[in-house]
Amino acid sequence: MKFGFIAHARWTSELRKIFLLRHDVSLIPFKSNKAIEKKSLEAGLIKDIFTYRKVLSAQKTRCSGRVFCVFLTPEQLLENQERAVELVVEACSQAKEWGAEIVGLGAMTAVIGSRGRETNAQSPVPVTTGNSLTVYSSLKAFQEMVKKLEIDIHRQKIVIVGFPGSIALAITRALLEEGVSLVLVSRRTTPFLKRFMADLDEATRKKVEISSDLPDALSKGKIIFSATSSGNLIDPDMLQPGSIVFDIAQPRDVINKKEKRKDVLIIDAGTVSLPRTTLFNYHSISLPFFSFLTLPAWTWQFREQHFLNYSGVGPYYLPSCLGETITLAMEGRPESFSLGRELPLDRVREIGRLSEKHGFIFDQFISFDRGISQEQYGRTKKALNNAH
Ligand SMILES: NC(=O)c1ccc[n+]([C@@H]2O[C@H](COP(=O)([O-])OP(=O)(O)OC[C@H]3O[C@@H](n4cnc5c(N)ncnc54)[C@H](OP(=O)(O)O)[C@@H]3O)[C@@H](O)[C@H]2O)c1
Repeated sequence: MKFGFIAHARWTSELRKIFLLRHDVSLIPFKSNKAIEKKSLEAGLIKDIFTYRKVLSAQKTRCSGRVFCVFLTPEQLLENQERAVELVVEACSQAKEWGAEIVGLGAMTAVIGSRGRETNAQSPVPVTTGNSLTVYSSLKAFQEMVKKLEIDIHRQKIVIVGFPGSIALAITRALLEEGVSLVLVSRRTTPFLKRFMADLDEATRKKVEISSDLPDALSKGKIIFSATSSGNLIDPDMLQPGSIVFDIAQPRDVINKKEKRKDVLIIDAGTVSLPRTTLFNYHSISLPFFSFLTLPAWTWQFREQHFLNYSGVGPYYLPSCLGETITLAMEGRPESFSLGRELPLDRVREIGRLSEKHGFIFDQFISFDRGISQEQYGRTKKALNNAH
């Protein structure tokens, strides 16, 4: 089965790069940020930017896929939702024309249009937000860290920023099943919050605090999941020594400061790696603007290291929303698997199990696109335990 995936630019500088790399004969890449953003919105450009000729699963199942980029930044997608949904639907139609039977919505393209529902209603192929596997992989990362740093979760308060978003809500429900104490950071009080609290049994309700004060919440807990639709709202200096942040948001919620703290861990969460069996086939990928990818296989390691590792297209550190799309294609299930705010936990576990069956890997961790040293783990563990 073929799959499609819809991406967008993360920053204006990426828009500039995309304009440049696609060899558009124009002066746009050299103009001001404002001019580039205006042009993107007016032109409504969509281009395919990456093709997976063959992804091979641990079950020897194969699929192929193509990534289509909507030339808009996250802010533009959120501020011009009607236009943005139109463009995402157009991108889905292009994916269908190419042969895709299922389309995954990347990052903000999954947030707009009632969290994928409007897009799904208008798209000629089923779409999925990929949020179920994102929740699964974030919780897997949490479990790995708990083991690695020997954390007693019942002695911690866990902070969840971006409640009651789709990802934050499912993570909350999963952690409540573990009986841990939570601080939920929500930017406004809505009837949903009241209903959510009212539906909890009394013992569980006592373990849940809702806050709209982010700095205060971060002073109460050191294990933090963050999945807002705003980005750039956690200054690392606000974190207590020994804090561990699972930053799921795209764009990131934690501000990428030049000077990195040595006593905290900020994990780029929500990522998976393609099945290891894929690596032997991965060099057959074609990247329209990098013809050097047809170079011999021995150069693979170098290219992977320098160009593809942190590009968002794999083989390592793929967003889980893309991982979910590939898993559904491997399974031959063209279904709108994840849509809307509510993600049932049994579906989260189901897609996790299927991804693992196909060989997806969940235990590779990075921070701001870079590997994490053993010293960093050690220092965070020490700071976390000191403060008990
Ligand atoms: N890593 C991956 O593979 C992956 C996959 C999917 C999604 N994502 C990313 O994950 C993030 C969340 O996605 P989602 O689908 O859960 O989105 P969502 O359902 O729209 O949830 C986002 C939540 O964040 C809240 N929020 C926004 N700004 C806030 C702030 N300043 N303080 C506190 N809360 C704030 C929103 O509040 P309101 O309800 O008031 O709007 C909303 O409840 C996005 O950045 C998305 O791109 C990553």
